[in-house]
Amino acid sequence: MVWRGRRVAVQPLSVTGVSLKQTLQQEAVSTKGVRGFLFPIIFISLFTFTLSAQAAKEEPPAEYKIPPDAAAKHNPIKPNGESLGRGKKLYGYDCAMCHGKDGDGKGDMASDYKSVTDFTDRSSLKSRSDGDLFYIIRNGKGQDMPPEGDRAKDDDIWHLVNYIRSLGKK
Ligand code: HEC
Repeated sequence: MVWRGRRVAVQPLSVTGVSLKQTLQQEAVSTKGVRGFLFPIIFISLFTFTLSAQAAKEEPPAEYKIPPDAAAKHNPIKPNGESLGRGKKLYGYDCAMCHGKDGDGKGDMASDYKSVTDFTDRSSLKSRSDGDLFYIIRNGKGQDMPPEGDRAKDDDIWHLVNYIRSLGKK
């Protein structure tokens, strides 16, 4: 018999005891075949699932922590005109594209991120010490806030801290 272009053998199931037995044996074999095929798949997916569950556990929805000694670091630089001027310049190069030219969190790249801190809103940095800000600028924060890393000298980061503090208006 030809069905959808394939040859399908139609077995005379109940014609003789032998062919029925054969059919049963064949079925047993094919069930085993299916099992032999399914088990690794189930096993692998369970394994992958366990792995990803573990990965999800290790991922940090954990709150962002700043080491206490970093948070307590004293800002050695007074926020005088010179410091703010230097901070403003660096801010223009490295921060404005996300945090906005005036610090309102609406820079050209801001739409790529869930939320960019608005420095014009005083409450956004209120709970942060200067040491916190230094640490965040040096090391970055989460996935979105990139670190200055080694490209800035300590003093430059303190100038940036002074400058973003000076942006608070509302
Ligand atoms: C690529 C975009 C991007 C750039 C460039 C960038 N930031 Fe950010 N920044 C972010 C985002 C997004 C957040 C919010 C991250 C979060 O809270 O998880 C953030 C958060 C911060 C915070 C943390 C506020 C807080 O208390 O949690 C500070 C401080 C900060 N940025 C300062 C700066 C400074 C200074 C620069 C330039 C040296 C800079 N950022 C450059 C995207 C950026």
